[in-house]
Amino acid sequence: MVKIAPSILSADFANLERDIKLVEEKGADYIHVDVMDGQFVPNITLGANIVSAIRPVTKLPLDVHLMIVEPERFIPDFAKAGSDIITVHAESTVHIHRAMQMIKNEGVKAGVVINPGTPVSVIEHVLPLADLVLIMTVNPGFGGQAFISECLEKVEQLDELRKEKGYTYEIEIDGGVDNKTAKACVDAGADVLVAGSYVYNSPDVGERIATLREVTK
Ligand code: DX5
Ligand code: ZN
Repeated sequence: MVKIAPSILSADFANLERDIKLVEEKGADYIHVDVMDGQFVPNITLGANIVSAIRPVTKLPLDVHLMIVEPERFIPDFAKAGSDIITVHAESTVHIHRAMQMIKNEGVKAGVVINPGTPVSVIEHVLPLADLVLIMTVNPGFGGQAFISECLEKVEQLDELRKEKGYTYEIEIDGGVDNKTAKACVDAGADVLVAGSYVYNSPDVGERIATLREVTK
C-alpha cells in the first residue's frame, strides 16, 4: 500500500502540534517537513529548531526535505533535531555523495531529490547510498502548484533501475499530488506520496487521506 506523507507546509503554523496529530490519527505514514532558505528556493520556512519542537508530538517518521544551499552545513543540526530521513537536492551541492554519507554517518536515512529539470543520470552514482529518492513534480518553493506529469518518466526509470540493480530505495513524489494525479504516480512506481495542500486545505483531512489511498488501490 502506498505511503502518505502530509506536508506541514500547508498546515497551520500556529497549530503545528494539532495538525500533525490530526494526520497521524487519520493514518498518515510520514510527516513531510519542507525546509527552505530563501536562496535555493524563493521562500523561507523553518529550521532545525522546529524539527526539535515537533519531534515529541508524533511517533511518525519525520521526512525532512532540505531545499537549502550547501545542505552539509546543517545536516548535523537536522539529525540531532530528530529527523528520521533527510533528503538533499542534487542541485544544491557540488558534493551530493559526501552530503549523503554525512547523513548516513549521523545514523539517519539518506534521501536524494531532483528538480523537474534535472535528469535521473545526475544521481545515478549515489543511488546505492539512497534510502529514498524524491522526484519533484513541481518546481520547489511553494505548496499548491500544478503537477508536472512529464516527471513520471523519471519515476519509471528509477523503478526499473532498482529492479535491475537490486537497490532498496523508496521512491517518493512531491508536488501537486491530489485525487487526480496520485494514481499515475503509483502506477509509475512510487511508494510514497507527499501531499500538502490537498490534505490540509480541507475541513476533512481524514477524507483526503482516505481518498488518496482509495484512488491508488
Ligand atoms: C514544494 C514542497 C512540497 C509542498 C507540496 O516545494 O517541497 O512538499 O509542500 O505541496 P502540494 O502538495 O500542495 O503541491
Ligand atoms: Zn517537500
